[in-house]
Amino acid sequence: MNTLQLIEKTEARMMEMFANEHTGHDWFHIDRVRRMALVLAHEEGADSQVVELAALLHDIDDWKFNGGDVDGGPKAARAWLESLDGRPDVIDRVVKVVEEVTFKGAGVDTPTSSIEAAVVQDADRLDAIGAIGIGRAFAYGGANKRQLWNPEEEVEYHDTFEAYKKNNNSTLAHFHEKLLLLKDRMQTESGKKMAEKRHQYMESFLDQFESEWWGD
Ligand code: ADP
Ligand code: NI
Repeated sequence: MNTLQLIEKTEARMMEMFANEHTGHDWFHIDRVRRMALVLAHEEGADSQVVELAALLHDIDDWKFNGGDVDGGPKAARAWLESLDGRPDVIDRVVKVVEEVTFKGAGVDTPTSSIEAAVVQDADRLDAIGAIGIGRAFAYGGANKRQLWNPEEEVEYHDTFEAYKKNNNSTLAHFHEKLLLLKDRMQTESGKKMAEKRHQYMESFLDQFESEWWGD
């Protein structure tokens, strides 16, 4: 199957697979990441077909939903693309992107080995911050039975992926353990600029949240 046909089939499959998702990883997240990734791909001169396919597949069998198996996503992406008889070189490049996208903790580097992976990683991270990021974080927290906030909890800095996986902090802690760190981990110039604006919006949300909490 040629790559354009692969994209069409993958879009339809993901739409179906993520239609009833309710943790902020629904089809609309995937579609926003795809659209943002294509904008960044254009600016950065990345291969738009590899970017689009990888963006569509980036959350397939994510470790947060499969019991913590970080190899699940890349394996599922490969199995899907092979079932459609995609070009082997395209499959390899897309699977590598899926492997490199996910965040693994404040102290864990998530380097990318291609401009296509950098673009998809940035697009995914942009959707985790700003107004949409705030909405998604609370949706995820509710679905995973996390508290909104517990002012007495200690905010942890996770040095290893294992520690990050195991934590069960409040959603507000998630801003400190991940979301507020993302703007400094953007890889593309255009991603950095967009992240700055969304970051400021999150900072003002957190100020307001905490002042309301204490009765202001
Ligand atoms: P990544 O692969 O980088 O984690 P995803 O698109 O899979 O990116 O999902 C990230 C989003 O999931 C976060 O930005 C947040 O909205 C939500 N999320 C993940 N962990 C938590 C958490 N502990 N508390 C609240 N939200 C979380
Ligand atoms: Ni995602």
